[in-house]
Amino acid sequence: MAISPEEFRLFRDYIERECGIRVGDAKEYLVESRLSSLMTQNGCATFGDFYALASGNRAPGLRDRIVDAMTTNETLWFRDNHPFSMLSEVFLRQMADEIIAGKRTRIRIWSAACSTGQEPYSIAMTIEEFARKRSVLPLEYVDIVATDISPSVLFSAMAGRYTGAVMTRGMPDDFRARYFDKAGEVWAIKERIRKMVRFKKFNLQEDFGPLGRFDAIFCRNVAIYFSDEFKRALFKRFAALLRPAGYLVLGASESISGYAPNDFRMHTHEKGIYYRVH
Ligand SMILES: C[S@@+](CC[C@H](N)C(=O)[O-])C[C@H]1O[C@@H](n2cnc3c(N)ncnc32)[C@H](O)[C@@H]1O
Repeated sequence: MAISPEEFRLFRDYIERECGIRVGDAKEYLVESRLSSLMTQNGCATFGDFYALASGNRAPGLRDRIVDAMTTNETLWFRDNHPFSMLSEVFLRQMADEIIAGKRTRIRIWSAACSTGQEPYSIAMTIEEFARKRSVLPLEYVDIVATDISPSVLFSAMAGRYTGAVMTRGMPDDFRARYFDKAGEVWAIKERIRKMVRFKKFNLQEDFGPLGRFDAIFCRNVAIYFSDEFKRALFKRFAALLRPAGYLVLGASESISGYAPNDFRMHTHEKGIYYRVH
C-alpha cells in the first residue's frame, strides 16, 4: 500500500513529535517500508486509517512499536574505539586523581541512546580494565545509567546475551574471554559487568531532572537523526545536566558546532573529539 503525500506529512510530524526524529523530504519509501507490516497487523487498510489509530492512543503499545520501527538501532562493541580510549586515558584518569585527592567519591556516566547495550557495557569493561590496572578506582563509586526510547532494544540490553555474529563486531578476543561466558549458542556478559549498568526507558525529549547529574555523557549516533532545533535544545540541556567541567562525547559524524558553541569547549585526544562544559 502506497502512502499519499498527506499521509506522509502526518506520519512525519507524528514521528518527530513522539521521538524527535526528523524524517527527510521525499522519504516516503522509508515510512512505507518500515510501517506497512505494522499497519496490516493492526487491521488498517490505508496509512490514513493507521495514523488515526496511532494518534488516537487507542492501541496500547502502538506508539512504542512505531518508534521502534522508525529508529535505527545499529551499534557495535567499542564503536569507533576513540571514545573508550578517551574515557580511560583522560576522563577516568582525571576522576581517579580526584578520588586519590579525596575530592570525589562518585563517578556518574550516562549512555544516552544505548540501543542493545554494546555502548554501556563497553564503558563498563573499560572502567573495569582501568580499575584493574590502576587499582585506585573502587567500582562501587561508579554508576553507569543507560537509556533508550525503545523497549525492545532495552530488553536485549538488560539480558546481556549476544549471538556469535554480534560478538564478531568490535569485541577483542581477550575481552570476550574475560568478560563473557558461552551459554550454548550465545555469549552472556558476566554478571558483575551487567550489574554495573542500570538500564531505563527514557525519551531524550523528556525532562532530565529525575536522572540526576553526570560527570560524562555519551550521546552517540542519535542526534544525527534530530532536527537542528532539537539538537540545539538537547546540547544546551546536556550542558546544564553535566557537573562542572563534565565531558560530552558525540558520534563520529556529529558535532556541537553550530548548536551550542558557547556551552562547551572542544578537546582532542589522539584522533578522538570530546567536549567539556564550561
Ligand atoms: C544508532 S543507535 C546508537 C547506539 C549507540 N549509542 C552507538 O553509538 O552505537 C540510536 C538509538 O537511539 C535511540 N533513540 C532514537 N530516538 C530517541 C529518543 N528520542 N530518545 C532516546 N533514544 C532514542 C534508538 O532507539 C536507537 O537505539
